[in-house]
Amino acid sequence: GAESHVEDYDFSFEGPFGAYDQNQLQRGLQIYTEVCSACHGLRYVPIRTLSDESGPGIPEDQVRAYANQFPVLDEDNNRQLYVQETGEFRALVPSDNFPANTSAAAPDLSLMAKARAGFHGPYGLGINQFVKGIGGAEYIASLLAGYEEAPECAPEDFPGHYNTVFAAGGFPASCIDEEGHHMVPGSWIGMAPPLQGEDIEFADGHSNELHHEAEDVAAFLMWAAEPQMMARKQAGFVGVLFLAVLAALLYLTNKRIWAPHK
Ligand code: HEM
Repeated sequence: GAESHVEDYDFSFEGPFGAYDQNQLQRGLQIYTEVCSACHGLRYVPIRTLSDESGPGIPEDQVRAYANQFPVLDEDNNRQLYVQETGEFRALVPSDNFPANTSAAAPDLSLMAKARAGFHGPYGLGINQFVKGIGGAEYIASLLAGYEEAPECAPEDFPGHYNTVFAAGGFPASCIDEEGHHMVPGSWIGMAPPLQGEDIEFADGHSNELHHEAEDVAAFLMWAAEPQMMARKQAGFVGVLFLAVLAALLYLTNKRIWAPHK
């Protein structure tokens, strides 16, 4: 069918007690730095948060070194640079945010994992989201692993790259049947496949197959978009516990109050 398929990855941060996996976030940061940051920015994410315990947990001296090595290019380069209020270029420090990057007309990734949904329906009831979550990270991982050779119905010179998960791109009229249905899932995206698998060597020796790389960078982007997820889940759990205890006490109180009249 022409339904695009978002894979339901098992992320460590799912469920009421889920937490980010520090090693995974560190691998995702490495992928973002070595591959994605060439085109995408993370302009709302402060670099210092890389040392958060509930995040990547990178030691502060390493975060300082990381900020410092971020490429700061000269004015002849048409890539948009981090410009301090003074208008001068200088090396980044942890209190800076990650640089914006508008060089390739690629969207900023700071909030992407919350801006996209992997699961919808059925019929607008949101049942899938209730069961599986919103699926922003699943969407990103599936998108990165969702490139395929363009289908035969498409003209050879159709602009963009065929992706089975991306829904918002161009779509050739020759791939739409008489009833107006798309004959193939997804659409044509402006981003060339950024990951092929084996793009990156991880210090922890973790697998760098395409699926794993996609999963790792998606987890990192989930953390970037929702760095306080663990604190939110904890507060929610305490709230539910509190209400459960309150409900039990109110039940017993109610019984006692009405006991003389029964
Ligand atoms: C779009 C992720 C690398 C250029 C996107 C989107 C995501 C994404 C999530 C948004 C898709 C949507 O709108 O639903 C990533 C990740 C990368 C990466 C995780 C690294 C692994 C790159 C690189 C380039 C690039 C290296 C440039 C060579 C673009 C462009 C778009 C885009 C131009 C807009 C595409 C369109 O709307 O048709 N990317 N990207 N990306 N990316 Fe990347």
